[in-house]
Amino acid sequence: MHAPRKNCRLVILISGRGSNMENIVQVIAQRNLPAEVCAVIANKADAQGIQWAQEQGIATEVVAHKDYATREQFDNALAQTVAQYRPDYVLLAGFMRVLTPVFIEPFAGRIINIHPSLLPLFPGLDTHEKALQAGLQWHGCTVHFVTAELDSGPTIAQGVVPIHQGDDAQQLAARLLPIEHKTYAQVVEWLAFDLVQIDPSGKVNVLGVNHRGVI
Ligand code: GRF
Repeated sequence: MHAPRKNCRLVILISGRGSNMENIVQVIAQRNLPAEVCAVIANKADAQGIQWAQEQGIATEVVAHKDYATREQFDNALAQTVAQYRPDYVLLAGFMRVLTPVFIEPFAGRIINIHPSLLPLFPGLDTHEKALQAGLQWHGCTVHFVTAELDSGPTIAQGVVPIHQGDDAQQLAARLLPIEHKTYAQVVEWLAFDLVQIDPSGKVNVLGVNHRGVI
């Protein structure tokens, strides 16, 4: 008899709506993944996703960045709160704070983010506007490991959508959101089964998976 596989422990950080977080919680249940969302933590008391998580019976915390004088003090408090839940992975899902090494180092190699562009294109904010301004025909999202350099850690998976003539940023964001959900859910499934590895060159391998794009 095999010992039952331990669930992959996830802590999700949000700042607002929380639709990626919500989708991850639902996909874990629907696909019966060996994973559990141990806590949802926001940096703002009014993050809408916090209420939804509470209604599901998930532990929630607010560590409000405005209560701390410096980024490092906030990151230290956040790291302590996250560590209490002993996560295997920390998932940033619409978490709108830049993290310093004070947070990143204790969880190095275990923090994952979703960014709404095809990185390395368009790090930072206003990615939909930037994709439209560039006159591209395709836009997308990237799920990647978080390193101290903003929006530039190793890519785990990307999702792609077409840009239509006449699109505005809202239309493009709305087209991309379901693909964000699908891409992040796919990565969570790989994490749950412990398939994601970073090779010595710093590139990501997913065991048994050749192509990591999601459309
Ligand atoms: C997503 O588009 C994410 O890529 C970006 O912020 C948005 C968050 O949406 N960083 P939600 O809070 O998951 O609904």
